[in-house]
Amino acid sequence: MPADQPASSPSTSDMPSCNPSGSGRPTFILGIDTSCDDTGLGVVELTPVRPQVRSNVVWSQTVHAEYGGVMPELASREHVERIDTLLPRALADAGIALHDLDVVAATSGPGLMGALLVGLMYGKGLSQALNVPFYAAHHLEGHIYAAASEEGLTPPYLALVVSGGHTHLFDVTAPGEYRLVGATRDDAAGEAFDKVARLAGLGYPGGPAISAAAERGDPLAVPFKPPLQGQEGFEFSFSGLKTAALLAFQRGARPEDLAASFQRAAVRSLVDTTVRAAHALGRETVVVSGGVAANRALRDAFGQTGLRAAFPAGGLNTDNGAMIALAGAAALQAGQAPSPLDGGAAAYVPLAPLPANPQFDTSARRKAR
Ligand code: KG4
Ligand code: ZN
Repeated sequence: MPADQPASSPSTSDMPSCNPSGSGRPTFILGIDTSCDDTGLGVVELTPVRPQVRSNVVWSQTVHAEYGGVMPELASREHVERIDTLLPRALADAGIALHDLDVVAATSGPGLMGALLVGLMYGKGLSQALNVPFYAAHHLEGHIYAAASEEGLTPPYLALVVSGGHTHLFDVTAPGEYRLVGATRDDAAGEAFDKVARLAGLGYPGGPAISAAAERGDPLAVPFKPPLQGQEGFEFSFSGLKTAALLAFQRGARPEDLAASFQRAAVRSLVDTTVRAAHALGRETVVVSGGVAANRALRDAFGQTGLRAAFPAGGLNTDNGAMIALAGAAALQAGQAPSPLDGGAAAYVPLAPLPANPQFDTSARRKAR
């Protein structure tokens, strides 16, 4: 047993990597994510081919809608209230009983501290009660596995994580090896969708609202200037688009036209920068994940690039527990030791070092979750 592992957390080291139970029966991993405003629990089964998602239960908190953004303390309380009722559903949907679980994984960061602690402590407690190994997972790694596992992809590939809190482009050189090649200087992509939807009165969360309104709008009605045009690096910026959207709205642009034009500009920025990075780094595959990966226009645009683009299956774009179970499955299959039960949560924990760029806005670090 590794030195950093408390005696109470069972080791997997002397067991076949796909079968910590050692019994010849299937191996089931429970994943828990409570990093923000979704309470997610999912079960993944290890199979010889690739991990299979057996259930994915998400409670999306609606309490934040009236504030137009996530209220951290309300999020923590809702997680506490919901998590215990979601576990039986996640197990029932997977067709297994509690004692069939072989491994528990939970997000330890990044995210809202109070919210993270709910799922992390619940997962640790469950692993102790069942006497099975526990794995702490990185939220962004979960997002990446949600897309990569679907098609059984193995590195090298580029990974674009686009959600309400992140816009990160990683070069994944080997399993678990991440190099950050670009990030947003200001707002995250999903955050910009949310803010533009709010100013145009389209509702919250803004991504699906913009997407729906864009169907009825003219994408060329508002001429947005592409962000960071001419840059040589692979950074993103969305705050200029947001300000331009506000000005256009004040000048009388129709919400549908604003939505269609903003979506077109945001999608083009994400796709063009990723394609340039793929060419520069010699990558032919890109994994796109996070809530914004649900966007139809983004999916269609990547389909035109000539790159092989992988997206998460339905229900795995936005925050969920199954993606954390997939990250746990990867750790297990890589032979990683279980996580220490005294490890804490972290609001900000990079998956890869931030690029050494003097122009990089450090507020993006603080915002990253
Ligand atoms: O991954 P996620 O559930 O949470 C974070 O980790 O942030 O992503 C939520 C974000 C929200 O900003 C939401 O507006 C955006 O994903 N989103 C979308 C779409 N569906 C969700 N953005 C654009 N188009 C969509 N269809
Ligand atoms: Zn997320």
